[in-house]
Amino acid sequence: DVILEVDQMSATDTQRPPLAVVILAAGLGTRMKSDVPKVLHEVCGRPMLSYVVDAALSVSPERVVVVTGPDQEAIADILPVGCERAVQQERRGTGDAVRAGLEPLERFRGDVMVLYGDVPLVDAGFVAALHRRHLEAEAAATLTTSELADPEHYGRIVRDDDGGVVRIVEYRDATPQERAVHEINVGLYVFRADALRPALGRLTSDNDQGELYLTDAVHLLLADGHTVASFRSDDEEMCRGVNSRVELAAVNAAMRRRLVERLMLAGVTVEDPATTYVDYGVEVGRDTVLRAGTHLLGRTTVGAACEVGPHSFLRDAFVGDRARVVSSHLHECVVGSGCSVGPFAHIRRNTVLAEGARAGTFVEIKNSRIGERSRVPHLSYVGDAVVGQDTNIAAGNITANYDGYEKHATTIGDRVRTGSDTVIVAPVNLGDDCVTAAGSVITRDVPPGALAVTREEQKNVEGYAARRVAERRTAPPS
Ligand code: UD1
Ligand code: CA
Repeated sequence: DVILEVDQMSATDTQRPPLAVVILAAGLGTRMKSDVPKVLHEVCGRPMLSYVVDAALSVSPERVVVVTGPDQEAIADILPVGCERAVQQERRGTGDAVRAGLEPLERFRGDVMVLYGDVPLVDAGFVAALHRRHLEAEAAATLTTSELADPEHYGRIVRDDDGGVVRIVEYRDATPQERAVHEINVGLYVFRADALRPALGRLTSDNDQGELYLTDAVHLLLADGHTVASFRSDDEEMCRGVNSRVELAAVNAAMRRRLVERLMLAGVTVEDPATTYVDYGVEVGRDTVLRAGTHLLGRTTVGAACEVGPHSFLRDAFVGDRARVVSSHLHECVVGSGCSVGPFAHIRRNTVLAEGARAGTFVEIKNSRIGERSRVPHLSYVGDAVVGQDTNIAAGNITANYDGYEKHATTIGDRVRTGSDTVIVAPVNLGDDCVTAAGSVITRDVPPGALAVTREEQKNVEGYAARRVAERRTAPPS
């Protein structure tokens, strides 16, 4: 049996040389016009560099080195354990960045995959295919290319009459004929380390930007008699780089489409994919319906058979099964199974709606627990409160939790019935089964089972309207 398994392994598995990945992330991202390093700009709620790191890790390399600038600690902070950081002291171009990335790999023998941190849509399948192509071609370098309908400012692939790669020319340095080429350099490569090192040493900055271009390594390798292979991808979208916020939006849209499609294939109904915004890592259970204009952001999880939207905004929210969330905002909260929220509710941080609870129209709840099956159906504010089970908070109730200096807590028991327009001035406790009269201002504890009334008794003035009419008739003209 063991022998059989060995037989089944492909040639590339058994002969694969060690692989290291170098990710370039030190660029200034000038065209972003930002104080944030370009590779930290987010794609579907996550720094774009993280996707590239995932792609790198997916090929099970021996080492992953991320090249950053000297002042970019923020990038180092998001790298997972196992990723090393190399510092490029001066931004002298992509060739110089790779040189910096190879510093910690001085003793490394094998293949080096180079990925650009601003090309975040590449996925595991894509880099695996590039790697396979490189191994099959037994090349000193394999570069990824793609044919774009609009090749914009990407580097162009120059080929000879036989179709062999001759060199990569940057758009800024290209002749009109070269600019007419639609095949572009995607910016993902595999090099044999021993061929790449000497080539990097011979790069010159004799170009429009005065930089050391990694792309120039290609013709240097060819000049030395090495084989350079190409891996041509027909997935235009996957090859998109981010240099401006316009491109960032395009890449976000593509990633979002991918994430929403993944949900649909997992059994989620998405009413309008074009207006459904889902961050990376968001989970949604099967048979849940996401209606138009729904945002599921951050670490949001939605259970099975829920209905969310239209127009709901959830960030870091956990929603159980069979819940409804209609036109509402939820932040850092837990909505239990079978709960109903909205329309137009605002559920804020540290709020828990226990199973079957309801937060209705124009209701704001902050840092509170609403017990099983309890309801806050209309026009209320509940803050810093613990509400028991099967309680009903009537329309227009306010927990006055702030005295201008400090926040105070309210506790409301089980099976409580408050009257409409009750103001509950914290700190205060309402016992189980108690009732408050409409319009009451509760400033003292209410014992279990009691009725609390804090308003003037009603006085009816009989015959008032008729008397007024009579008075006006007899009054002298003014
Ligand atoms: C680069 C390629 C171009 C290709 C395009 C694909 C070069 C010279 N050009 O152009 O052929 O079509 O990507 O998207 O390689 N970086 C550093 N240090 C530096 C400069 C850049 O780490 O000194 C990093 C950047 O952070 C970025 C990557 O290298 O992640 C690419 O640099 P960028 O300036 O964006 O290159 P492009 O002009 O897009
Ligand atoms: Ca770029």
